[in-house]
Amino acid sequence: MITELTKGVYWVGVVDWALRHFHGFELTTHRGSSYNAYLITDEKTVLVDTVWGPFQEQLIENIREVIDPAKIDIVVANHAEIDHSGSLPAVMRHAPKATVIVSKRGLESVEGHFHQPWNFQAVQTGDKVSIGKRELIFVEAPMLHWPDSMFTYLTGDNILMPNDAFGQHYANAFRFNDEVDQEELYEEALKYYANILTPFSGMVSKKIEEVLALNLPVSMIAPSHGIIWRKDPLQIVKKYQEWASQVPEKTAVIIYDSMWDGTRHMAEAIGDGLAAENIPYKTFYMPTADRNDVITEIFKTKAVIVGSPTFNQGLLPTITPILEDLKGLKFQNKIGAAFGCYGWSGESVKIIEDHLATCKIPVITEGIRAKWQPKPDDLARCREFGSTVAGAIRK
Ligand code: FEO
Repeated sequence: MITELTKGVYWVGVVDWALRHFHGFELTTHRGSSYNAYLITDEKTVLVDTVWGPFQEQLIENIREVIDPAKIDIVVANHAEIDHSGSLPAVMRHAPKATVIVSKRGLESVEGHFHQPWNFQAVQTGDKVSIGKRELIFVEAPMLHWPDSMFTYLTGDNILMPNDAFGQHYANAFRFNDEVDQEELYEEALKYYANILTPFSGMVSKKIEEVLALNLPVSMIAPSHGIIWRKDPLQIVKKYQEWASQVPEKTAVIIYDSMWDGTRHMAEAIGDGLAAENIPYKTFYMPTADRNDVITEIFKTKAVIVGSPTFNQGLLPTITPILEDLKGLKFQNKIGAAFGCYGWSGESVKIIEDHLATCKIPVITEGIRAKWQPKPDDLARCREFGSTVAGAIRK
């Protein structure tokens, strides 16, 4: 069902209730998602972004509820990733003479995806296109989250359409932030930020300052996933500023795997050491934990404590993917520590510590190892280790 945001501006997107994985299997989406496309009717008819290709017919039907798709004059492709551009070919079959507005880098990426001789217009920050009573103003937003990403602003109604920024993978019966469960909304907005935008936090801060300096009134922020920010729309901008600063909570996250429970007993004893010092912590057993949810918890926390027994002179394979995530996500203001059992060679703790150093997560105390099953004095060392990490968290 389409939704009118303001007079002549419509949400014509698609809610994908069934989606549970995104970017292939890189990101879990427990609450589905939506692909938001916006139709603006003025003297010219404009479509801002499309939807993922499998939903192209639904997009066309949604547009048809307002206007014949053949009457579209302008299609803005804020970003080429196919969850937003995947239905461009279908739209362009209906409106082959439409102008496709892209950022300069978008010219490269959209052409690269579709190899079509469409009538492109590449724009840069500050460029304006009149569509009748209103104008579109464009702001390039490279690395939020691709080099081609762009925001589109609609004057008159003062709607900012920032594509992926400020979005959430959150399917819902309703479209606006004042209509949905706030806890769910912010859980999904944070998971989205932590898993997708963290590496670009410096650019997030700069871009927000740049957009605010334009002094454009903003009555709505309409991202391309999830809920539209209508009530106090700048609340999510303030949250992004806070998240981009990456100031951690004084807490810890313990992630581990275990072959025969030795490393598990160590994890529990480390947790006891943290709790004895009144430091809240969460423990995740990686074979059953959701990696993206764990990343969200790591985003929030100060201390990342990683445990694995030694397996084939390395780590258990469930630990390696999240360590790789830590490298790519470039978390700031963290401290780290490592632990693990071993039977013969015992390299795992050193491997984890080296990896944390590569991630620029300083290891704040010597890693703790236990041979075979941890003995009572090993577990006492683990509790002491937890207490040492607690002290570093408090600093
Ligand atoms: Fe970068 Fe929602 O795609």
